[in-house]
Amino acid sequence: MERLRLAVVGVGHLGKEHARILAGLSGVELVGVVDARAEQAEAVARRCSTRPFTDHRQLLAESLDAAVIAVPTVHHHAVAADYLRAGVALLVEKPLASTLAQADELVDLARRAGVLLQVGHVERFNPAFEQLSRRPLQPKLVTCQRLSPFSGRSLDIGVVLDLMIHDLDLLLALVGAPVRDVSAVGLSLLSGHEDLAQAYLTFESGCVAHLSASRAHTAPVRRMEVWAPEGFVAADYHRRRLTLVQPSAQLRRQQARPRPLDETVLASLRSDLFGRYLEKIELDCTGNGPDQLTRELAEFVTSVRTGAPVRVPGEQGRDALALADRILDSLRRHVWDGRAGGPSGPSGFPPPLGPLFSTREPGVAA
Ligand SMILES: NC(=O)c1ccc[n+]([C@@H]2O[C@H](COP(=O)([O-])OP(=O)(O)OC[C@H]3O[C@@H](n4cnc5c(N)ncnc54)[C@H](O)[C@@H]3O)[C@@H](O)[C@H]2O)c1
Repeated sequence: MERLRLAVVGVGHLGKEHARILAGLSGVELVGVVDARAEQAEAVARRCSTRPFTDHRQLLAESLDAAVIAVPTVHHHAVAADYLRAGVALLVEKPLASTLAQADELVDLARRAGVLLQVGHVERFNPAFEQLSRRPLQPKLVTCQRLSPFSGRSLDIGVVLDLMIHDLDLLLALVGAPVRDVSAVGLSLLSGHEDLAQAYLTFESGCVAHLSASRAHTAPVRRMEVWAPEGFVAADYHRRRLTLVQPSAQLRRQQARPRPLDETVLASLRSDLFGRYLEKIELDCTGNGPDQLTRELAEFVTSVRTGAPVRVPGEQGRDALALADRILDSLRRHVWDGRAGGPSGPSGFPPPLGPLFSTREPGVAA
């Protein structure tokens, strides 16, 4: 079997991990790594026993089969378009591009060139999401929280394209219906883009969703809760754990024959809610297999080789971006004091009335 000739463009925080994993995958030859910072390209190339480059176009002469694009989002389109025009199959990190027009163009270029375009929505490979999406479930109410300490990375985009996009992609995959209404607010604290955002969505299927994202939080939180006729699921994507709750046969019978709760039933509900009425299991989905980035890359390599479909094709990356675009449009138009023409959008928060508390109050950290 001939080895696939691959490259990684952008070997910063995430791209260097792509390069490390690809260098160790069987059937792959890592032809080179590219980074605009020569010293970074050289350091990663040394670690992965490959060649360093500083311009992605230098690799167009190297008969590449495929590449991973992990440059900052604002540069995805320029780099990816050059490679797709040359017939190179791509895994482009999320979000697919920084504008919907650019994402549409990349999807179109891939289709016309007849090459694979996969998007790096790696949470689809999170074992907790894999477990959740295999279950019979008609989501009717979903809440998502994706909160991160400030990392100082991805400041070319706001928190909607940086973090919330993960949950938008998971939601679209889970709900499987178009979004009817979008309403959102956002706040810029540190970066010039929105660093906090809240979005409310209503799907054509009647499902409603509330998403919260922040990159100025005290600790990482990646949580999703799903209410459905089948039961309730809480997914902790950070710890890769699921809690599943379903009504017992006894509760379903009781719901079918509603009658006032007498003292005996009330007492048994208080003492035995989880057990007799609500059945609950906790699943640790961590397992011993390869991590989700390795499985994402293995799927990409297999699909380039065999033409098998991928979990997140360019079209689905584009759909997540289209929804993010609607959220950004809504949060930019939000007027904080309710008056047309008043302060609006993530940078238009009204000025403070004064400090909320004094720095001399007890409990204030020095
Ligand atoms: N899937 C995920 O969970 C996930 C996590 C983190 C980042 N990302 C995405 O990955 C991408 C990279 O993020 P990061 O955190 O690794 O950023 P980073 O800033 O750490 O790395 C980007 C690298 O690209 C290099 N670069 C910039 N422009 C370039 C160009 N034109 N050609 C070659 N190299 C160039 C930079 O020098 C830098 O080393 C972003 O799109 C981000 O949204 C995805």
